[in-house]
Amino acid sequence: MKTNQTIDRRDFVKTAAMAGAVLSAAPSLLAAESGPGAFKGGKIRVGEIGCGSVSGSYLPNLTSQPFIEVVSVCDIIVDRAKKRAEKFKVPNVYPNIDEMLGGAPFDLLVNTTSMPSHYPVNKKALQAKRHVWSEKPMALTVKDAKELLDLAKKNGVHLWAAPTCVTSPQFKFMVETMDSGKIGKVTAGHGTYGHGGPGWSGWFYQKGGGSLYDLGVYNVTTFTGLLGPVKEVVGMTAVLNPTRKVEDQGEVKVEADENTMLIMHHGNGVLSHVQTGFVYFDGERLAGEGRQLYTIDVTGTKGTMHMQGWDWGPGGVDIAYEGNAVLEAFSKDPGKYNWVGGAKYVAESLLSGRPSLITPEHSIHVLEVMNACHESQRTGRRISLETTFKWPLFG
Ligand SMILES: NC(=O)c1ccc[n+]([C@@H]2O[C@H](COP(=O)([O-])OP(=O)(O)OC[C@H]3O[C@@H](n4cnc5c(N)ncnc54)[C@H](O)[C@@H]3O)[C@@H](O)[C@H]2O)c1
Repeated sequence: MKTNQTIDRRDFVKTAAMAGAVLSAAPSLLAAESGPGAFKGGKIRVGEIGCGSVSGSYLPNLTSQPFIEVVSVCDIIVDRAKKRAEKFKVPNVYPNIDEMLGGAPFDLLVNTTSMPSHYPVNKKALQAKRHVWSEKPMALTVKDAKELLDLAKKNGVHLWAAPTCVTSPQFKFMVETMDSGKIGKVTAGHGTYGHGGPGWSGWFYQKGGGSLYDLGVYNVTTFTGLLGPVKEVVGMTAVLNPTRKVEDQGEVKVEADENTMLIMHHGNGVLSHVQTGFVYFDGERLAGEGRQLYTIDVTGTKGTMHMQGWDWGPGGVDIAYEGNAVLEAFSKDPGKYNWVGGAKYVAESLLSGRPSLITPEHSIHVLEVMNACHESQRTGRRISLETTFKWPLFG
């Protein structure tokens, strides 16, 4: 059952497509399918699929936005969906994507399923002409990800994938500092993100899981966002534990990377490096009140920048430069940024027509970088990349 307004909007898109209008999924939005008038009651109706760990952080964020109405939740383990529905007062519960798409109408699918389920679930939603916000990665292969984007364009809907780190004020501050020339010509970057590994679900350690897709993806997104598209990749990955014990499956064989080192060439000799793993101690903190570890470092010929805290939840940026070579902290305020705020961010884009800093082309490029790292490990070779995205992100 679809509302009249939904049908009107989709009919318009169909008619425009037949008339030869160019439907672009990103970065800018079509006026006819965005703006308050395009959605029922000026609200975005959301259906969230995947009611595991991260949904416990998404739902408080989504249900507290006045312009979002969470109409349904879904999980193949339907008890999980029922519990989330009860807690967050969501009226409809479904056991699979088909029943969800055929049930209470919604505009935006929020996909927080396990990583191997992203592509098939995203595809069905796009086929049903729903906008999609997907947890990362949107698919496991570049071919499948491109197919999703083509489908979104064909059906006049939008597709976005986590992470959200390019929307933080600290990311913007780093871009502005680079643009100001204060740190000279930027030459190199280093990022790190790891912990001891998730203990709740086995898929993290199986094919389609791994520390690079789950954690390293944030740093790869940050460095491609800061330094530009990658030309070549060299990487090594390792499995250290033959098996792991997890809550849902007991003992599982570890097939996906647990310990990964990735080097990216952004062109013109600019290099960055990401290390990520499920075999890391992460309990240490910097001395001093409120200070957090550096996880992103950017070096230039005349200065350096260090991001405090994880790039998905930064706590500030310390910089030192020629003439002022003592580190000083800037950009401490997170503003409205929230690491689970990506679906809210794109809902705002849909309502206002404002272009999104998060684009599917960037996400596909990040996926190609990560897959090139795995290919480099398999083949022992340096891998050249084919995809690219609009960069710089601002302006
Ligand atoms: N857990 C976190 O803190 C966290 C943080 C950031 C991002 N993420 C990302 O969020 C996604 C989910 O992670 P998680 O930790 O919540 O995983 P999880 O295993 O706890 O939950 C995934 C849920 O999806 C359900 N599911 C899987 N396939 C499905 C399908 N086809 N249809 C319906 N339901 C399906 C599973 O039953 C499970 O309940 C991943 O992409 C992960 O990288 C997780």
